[in-house]
This record gives sequence, C-alpha cells and structure tokens, in this order.
Amino acid sequence: MAQYYSRIMGWGMYAPERVLTNDDLSNMVDTNDEWIVSRTGIRERRIAAEGEATVDMSIHSAKQALEQAGISASDLDLIILASSTPDYLCPPASSLLQDRLGASKAAAMTIFAGCTGFMYGLVTAAQFVENGAYKHVLVVGAETLSYAIDWEDRDTCILFGDGAGAVIVSRSQQPGGMQSMVLGSEGSGWDSLILPGIGSNRQITEETLAKKEHKLRMNGRAVFKFATRAMTDAVTKVVTEAGLTINDIDLLIPHQANARIIDLAIRRLGIERERVMINLDRYGNTSAASVPLALCEALDEGRIQPGDNIALVAFGAGLTYGACVWEWHGDKTENEAILVTDWPVSDTFSEYAQQMRTTAWRMQVQARTKASDAAMAVMLPLYTFQKGVKKRLQQFEDEQ
Ligand code: COA
Repeated sequence: MAQYYSRIMGWGMYAPERVLTNDDLSNMVDTNDEWIVSRTGIRERRIAAEGEATVDMSIHSAKQALEQAGISASDLDLIILASSTPDYLCPPASSLLQDRLGASKAAAMTIFAGCTGFMYGLVTAAQFVENGAYKHVLVVGAETLSYAIDWEDRDTCILFGDGAGAVIVSRSQQPGGMQSMVLGSEGSGWDSLILPGIGSNRQITEETLAKKEHKLRMNGRAVFKFATRAMTDAVTKVVTEAGLTINDIDLLIPHQANARIIDLAIRRLGIERERVMINLDRYGNTSAASVPLALCEALDEGRIQPGDNIALVAFGAGLTYGACVWEWHGDKTENEAILVTDWPVSDTFSEYAQQMRTTAWRMQVQARTKASDAAMAVMLPLYTFQKGVKKRLQQFEDEQ
C-alpha cells in the first residue's frame, strides 16, 4: 500500500479592520495600557464589523488558502471549521462555509474544542490525507469572540479578539508533514472557561440574560496554571515522539493567549524567544484562530523554510490541549549526495545517540518544571501575605 504524507499547500488569514486598543478599553472599563501590556503582552485586538460573523471571516481566509494551493473549492474532500463562536449552534457553521465556497463534494464538520480547535482540526485532516481517504482538506480556525464577551468585565474583555486563519492540508508522496501529535482534555477543569447560559443545560431566560450568563466567564489563574503546564508537557511529548530535541525545532508556534504564559513555558522548555512566533500584541487571543493566524504571519514573514521542523501548540476551554511537530514540505538536504544516516552502521549508532539526547533533554525539562513549580509554591503564599500586610498598612494610614 502506498504511503502518503500530509503537506500544507496553501494558507490564508483574515483580521477585521476595526482595531480596539488598550487605551480604547480604558475608556470602557477600569483598566489601563500599562497593566494590560505587562500582564498579557496584548496592545490591540481586531473586532468584527456589525453583522460580520464567523463564516464571513472564514470565507476570506479559505479563499486565500485555496488560491495559494492552486486548487478550487470543488477539489475539497473535507472542510473542518474549528470555532467556539459559530454563526448558529445548529446548523454547523462548516456547512454554511461549504455552501458559500461552492465546495459541493466536500464533507463538512465543525469542531468545538475551545482555543485548541484548530489543532484538533489539523491533526484530523492529517489522518485523512495520510491514510489515503482524502486528497485535500480545508482546515479553518475562526472566531467572533467579541459577541461572547461581557464588555463590562475587565477580567476577560482585555484578552480576546476576532479573526480567521485557514490551511489546505493535501496528500503528498514526498516525506514531510505531521511527524507527531498529541491531543488531550482535562475535563475536570470544564468550568474554568465557560459560557454558561447557552446550551441544552440552561435555557435562555430573562434571568440568565440579566445575569449575563450568555457571556464568557473565566477563572484566569486556573487557566494560567493549566496553560503553562499543558504547553510544556505537550511540546515535550511531540518533540520527543518525533525523535527530536527542542534544539531541532526551528520555530515554535504557540496559542497566542498571554505573553507571560508563553514566556514561562518556553523558559521551561529551554527555547529562546527568537525561535517562537508571537503576534498576540496585535491580535490578542483569537481562540481557534490564534495558531493559524500566527502560522500564516510566520510564513508570510519568511520565518519558515523548506525542511524546517515547526512545533504548534494550543490549549483552551475544556480544558483541552493539542500539539504537533510538522516538517515543512520541500527538501533542505536535496543537494547532499549521501546523508550520514544513509550508512547502515552509523544509522544504528545515530539512533542510539538520538535516543540518549532526547532522554537527557526530557529529564532536563522535567527537572526545570519541578523546580519552578516548587519556587512558585513557596513564593505565592509569601506574595499573598505581603499583599495583605500592604493592604492593612494602607488601611491604617487611611484611618490616621
Ligand atoms: N486592569 C487593571 N487591573 C486589573 C485587571 C484589568 N483588566 N484585571 C484584574 N486587575 C487587578 C485585580 O483586581 C488585582 O488587583 P489587587 O491586587 O488589588 O487585588 C490585580 O490586578 C491582579 O489581578 P490578578 O487576577 O491576580 O491578575 P493576574 O496576574 O492573574 O492576571 C490574567 C490576570 C487574566 C491576565 C491572567 O490570570 C491570565 O492571563 N490567565 C489566563 C487567561 C487565558 O489565557 N485565558 C484564555 C485561555 S485559552
């Protein structure tokens, strides 16, 4: 049976025109640019125009991706749309997208996996093309989070933005594409990031509307803690399973939620910021659109070259997480007549050396993670105690 590989043939992105800056937000809620930048790294985000919904944004990114891949919508076998903010709960937004693209022969599915949705979609697409079932799969991550945000809640409204990103995953006979993957969910954290008032568990009533239960709620600290751990573990797992170490990763593309989450995770992983794609300063957290938006910008900026190994990772509501290592198509080594690994004896030797290198790196990451968790466990009560003392001193001064 022929062996197939996955290959990203085209990509596209869309960000709505309207820019909402931190200063704009400071006129809406009690916040300021300095706080938002220092706590999140976000400077501005895009907001969909009145009446502009998730499928409208998806169309733009999908058309670009199709054009770049040099195929038409009728060539698509499957459309996967990842979104937590679809146009309707029913019908699936993927079918609206299929209709508007004119992708008549494509199957269509919508994935709800929070901010990890695109990773779930990408991994699913790769399975379908690698097993030979499909030739071309469109994967879109798109969100109109601005409609799900409580614009009076400063805990959440500073974080999120709207946008869409798309890729065409195609069947290839040339080695490359997805090298390893992990998908997961820690359902026990289901209520850490939740839109409680929409769904079969809770009918929409005047009471739920008055309590704003149709808007997003978040336990920021719980999500932060989960995110740093999930990112570190997931990247370590996929890099190891691809037979690589972090030094072999040319570019890490993480979910763009918070610069502090990214910084903590990459410190633990031992990868410097120069090899990490960050664009959250301009888009904020666009949930399922975040990884494809970052991937598209990295490609357009020439930060990914043929033969590069890139790691993609996301986490989000659920609490879900997902990552993969993707070898970019094209051949970095095509001019090398004989590779070191082509020699049978050195092949075995280099396999052992690689295994030892990988084990050493994995142990190092685990040790670093444990050390920083222990430091955190000591510092947090001290910090809370100091804050209490400061507050009491302040109260005492005020009373004088
Ligand atoms: N502007 C100004 N001050 C704010 C604020 C805002 N938008 N939000 C909270 N504060 C204040 C708090 O009231 C608190 O004040 P106090 O010290 O006087 O009590 C102080 O800032 C610190 O608040 P805290 O909630 O401890 O901030 P934090 O450092 O945990 O940062 C988040 C908050 C939300 C930025 C952070 O928890 C986070 O990013 N979590 C992950 C969220 C995420 O990524 N979600 C999506 C995942 S897909």
